[in-house]
Amino acid sequence: MKILIVGGGGREHAIAVSLARDERVTEIVCAPGNGGISGIARCVPVKATDIEGQVSLAKAEKPDLVVVAPDDPLALGLVDRLTECGIRAFGPTKLAAEIEASKSFAKGLMAKYGIPTAECGVFDDIEAAKAYIREKGAPIVVKADGLALGKGVTVASTLEEALAAVDSAMGDGVFGAAGNRVVIEECLFGPEVSMLCFTDGKTIKTMVPSQDHKRALDGDKGPNTGGMGAISPVPCYTKEVHERCIREIYEPTVAAMNAEGRPFKGVLYFGLMLTAAGPKVIEYNCRFGDPETQAVLPRLESSLLEIMLAITEERLSGVPVEWDSGACAAVVLASGGYPGAYRTGYPISGIEEAEAMGAKVFHAGTKLDGGKTVTSGGRVLAVSCRADTLGKALDSAYACASKISFENMHFRKDIGHGAR
Ligand code: AMP
Ligand code: GLY
Repeated sequence: MKILIVGGGGREHAIAVSLARDERVTEIVCAPGNGGISGIARCVPVKATDIEGQVSLAKAEKPDLVVVAPDDPLALGLVDRLTECGIRAFGPTKLAAEIEASKSFAKGLMAKYGIPTAECGVFDDIEAAKAYIREKGAPIVVKADGLALGKGVTVASTLEEALAAVDSAMGDGVFGAAGNRVVIEECLFGPEVSMLCFTDGKTIKTMVPSQDHKRALDGDKGPNTGGMGAISPVPCYTKEVHERCIREIYEPTVAAMNAEGRPFKGVLYFGLMLTAAGPKVIEYNCRFGDPETQAVLPRLESSLLEIMLAITEERLSGVPVEWDSGACAAVVLASGGYPGAYRTGYPISGIEEAEAMGAKVFHAGTKLDGGKTVTSGGRVLAVSCRADTLGKALDSAYACASKISFENMHFRKDIGHGAR
């Protein structure tokens, strides 16, 4: 079978590696891909957000399956367009993808169907938003309604900070149209867990729990990033918590989307906070997480291809989704300065050595330059290691990461620190 993967980050690299394990996969094309993905797929320079470009590519390549991995093309309706053209596509429709693309839709859904989440208000008017903040007090969370590259959320510890966040989203328009509406939320406390799930709209099968590390610096300091590392499993996510989440969150969400006439097929990602009052949803994503995928998919023992095909045919209930009983840790190596300004084009050394020691090195911001792999983005690589315990997986990931270097390389030294 021929597969087309839309996207070009570490997540897409991990998806490609997982799909390639099924012997039915004979060819993978990736658009746009990156320096590492080009080792197992033919990369074509079409942007993930170029919807008509992606449709033309799919028409020309005639893949048996298109996997749409990033949020933007899903929110722009790429799966709908491919389906209209008779091309089989994995991922939610535009209507279903709103569960991520519009926080106000997601909050409304949870309120209507009694799914536990932070209390909130939704505002299109800047003065009303500020009045609500003054009434509720700090700490409080201000979120741009639309997609803002993971940067639209301010967890404000003071009133001034919260009011300034409203000014920059609604007044100065720093997130463009995504910030015309804001969601203002009660601040929750507790460990965060990501649960990625496969669903065909009828059945939901959970992956293994994982945890992202969003802040740039050790000790959860510094600005928010796309994610600096991930672990799986997460010790505080116990069997009891899992069963409660299935009952109160996962299954009710699938049912709610059906009831709204937006059946969700693909990967539904639950960003959870385990609060003293029980697990609550912080956010939904309509896709695999990055870098969670780089710590989760290496643990999948069943065929990802078979699961994806089954989801497109609504027969997930009959397909095994089995996981190893061990652990996996992924440490992100980033360009110094990220998530702010950084330079690219630096040669990377040591990837082969790290892989010879047992790591899988997923590429995110890399490209090939005259046969050499060089940096081309903020998050450059994720060094992913499996082991029978989380402690051993983390030790291996750090030992392997120490073999890799490029100018101004930055990584967190404390991934999984609290979970060992
Ligand atoms: P999001 O973009 O919605 O994933 O939010 C980014 C990060 O902000 C989350 O991973 C949390 O760490 C934090 N956050 C979001 N909502 C809340 C909340 N209601 N209470 C506390 N922290 C939050
Ligand atoms: N790791 C968070 C995300 O993929 O949105």
